[in-house]
Amino acid sequence: MDQLVILLGPPGAGKGTQAKRLAAKLGIPQLSTGDMLREARAAGSDLGKQVAAIMDAGKLVSDDIVVALIDDKMGRDVTRDGAIFDGFPRTEGQAGSLDRLLAARGRKVTAAVLMDVPDAEVVRRNSGRRMCPICQRTYHVDLAPPKTAGVCDVEGHELIQRPDDRPEKIQARLDAYHRDTAPLIGYYARKGLLRRVDGVGAQDDVFGRLAAALGAT
Ligand code: AP5
Repeated sequence: MDQLVILLGPPGAGKGTQAKRLAAKLGIPQLSTGDMLREARAAGSDLGKQVAAIMDAGKLVSDDIVVALIDDKMGRDVTRDGAIFDGFPRTEGQAGSLDRLLAARGRKVTAAVLMDVPDAEVVRRNSGRRMCPICQRTYHVDLAPPKTAGVCDVEGHELIQRPDDRPEKIQARLDAYHRDTAPLIGYYARKGLLRRVDGVGAQDDVFGRLAAALGAT
């Protein structure tokens, strides 16, 4: 079955954490525009250099850049059975572009799940987040620590703090979410595709709610 699922929610709602689990359960890939942009930066590509300052400031990269990244992925065989969109779309412009690029392939979004997390929890999660620069797996110093402090469980590499996880940048990302991305809640509700999930609680509990909302239990 072609499952094209969007995970919506503020920065730090747990989209990346849950998208990985959902992708494994459904056997379809996670498409994270944030991860793609960080990979471009790590590779030192022209695209990476172009977006670095925007990302570090907590602002949104332009629609045409992220739409091109997604268009490229949707042209690949690995997405033939579906995909979990994590952090995309983030503006109404991106949502419209996604609808059009899917329609051109005879496909459409099947669900948009809002992971509801209050702003105070967003700040707590992002400020304690640490990330493996190799596999992009995320941890939290208190809430989801690695087995050995400061080291990735899988790669054994030293964890880093994302530049946009500093306090003033977290607020900028939250502002961008409320201004540019929150209107997508109405966009998908009007299409009858919106499902809401409480994103607060243990990761296993949140995953259970997410899977239930998608009928994937
Ligand atoms: P991106 O990487 O997408 O960042 P984001 O949306 O801000 O989302 P995050 O990765 O911060 O959070 P998340 O919801 O994935 O939470 P996570 O699972 O990590 O984008 C980064 C930047 O790239 C943007 O600011 C922008 O510049 C650019 N960009 C990307 N896409 C774009 C687009 N479409 N358009 C324009 N620009 C774009 O969890 C967070 C923390 O909480 C972790 O530490 C985790 O361990 C912990 N945690 C997770 N679940 C729980 C739980 N249930 N309880 C307690 N802690 C938890």
